[in-house]
Amino acid sequence: MSLLTGKLGIVFGVANKRSIAWAIAQAWAKEGARLAFTYQGERLKENVEELAATFGSDTLILPCDVTRDEEIAAVFKTVGEKFGKLHLLLHSVAFAPREALEGEFINTSRDAFRIAHDVSAYSLVALARAAAPLMTEGGSILAMTYYGSEKVVPHYNVMGVAKAALEASARYLAYDLGPKKIRVNCISAGPVNTLAARGIAGFTDMLKHYEAHAPLRRNVLPDELGATGVFLASDGAAAITGQVIYVDSGYQIMGM
Ligand SMILES: NC(=O)c1ccc[n+]([C@@H]2O[C@H](COP(=O)([O-])OP(=O)(O)OC[C@H]3O[C@@H](n4cnc5c(N)ncnc54)[C@H](O)[C@@H]3O)[C@@H](O)[C@H]2O)c1
Repeated sequence: MSLLTGKLGIVFGVANKRSIAWAIAQAWAKEGARLAFTYQGERLKENVEELAATFGSDTLILPCDVTRDEEIAAVFKTVGEKFGKLHLLLHSVAFAPREALEGEFINTSRDAFRIAHDVSAYSLVALARAAAPLMTEGGSILAMTYYGSEKVVPHYNVMGVAKAALEASARYLAYDLGPKKIRVNCISAGPVNTLAARGIAGFTDMLKHYEAHAPLRRNVLPDELGATGVFLASDGAAAITGQVIYVDSGYQIMGM
């Protein structure tokens, strides 16, 4: 039997085939999970439909802008109707206005700060609250984060502050949901060349820096994020909750 046979999951954050969400979704599906997908808006609908169709033409695909409570409610209403219950949720969603990811953090506008936190951190709270009533057999909620939450990574700026809020939210959610056997963890990924990453000024230099300085002397592969996603979703991680797991070729341990 595969590791996730019989598990029902929902994936937030597929934009295209390079998305980390897609790597984790593929790994979950390969281990036997049945998945639903959401897309941010009409612009991304076709991409997500095309990718999700590889799991069968009846794959559930729903619109969800995570800043809109009514769209979140509609997603979980439909998932409840179609699946009846839920075991897995992937939060692989982040956004900050481009100008906030260039130049100095000190110049972050009130609006950019609010948007980054709403999309990238509060959304985990909103999604967890909506998913929990369906996780009647327990569950695993997974969010994607980055090391810029704890150390200064030039240009990551307000996104680092939002990731700190995301990681702290995961811990508080883990405490609230623990009695329901729902686990909440974060994967802190090293840099991966995706649509969101290309919005960060100097991203290519980041890739080179990791290659030169991480203990494994290379960047992380999407499949490796998928494999960790499977582990955290599986019973092998049954006693792991509220954690940030680094999948970054070891970069996080370095002091210099
Ligand atoms: N790429 C990296 O180097 C890296 C490293 C560590 C962590 N992460 C995190 O991984 C996650 C996925 O990013 P990615 O790199 O795969 O890029 P991506 O661009 O493929 O994915 C980002 C997703 O966020 C979604 N999104 C943005 N605003 C939204 C909104 N209002 N409502 C719903 N969805 C919205 C986009 O539609 C997209 O699917 C993010 O949380 C990112 O911060 C990425």
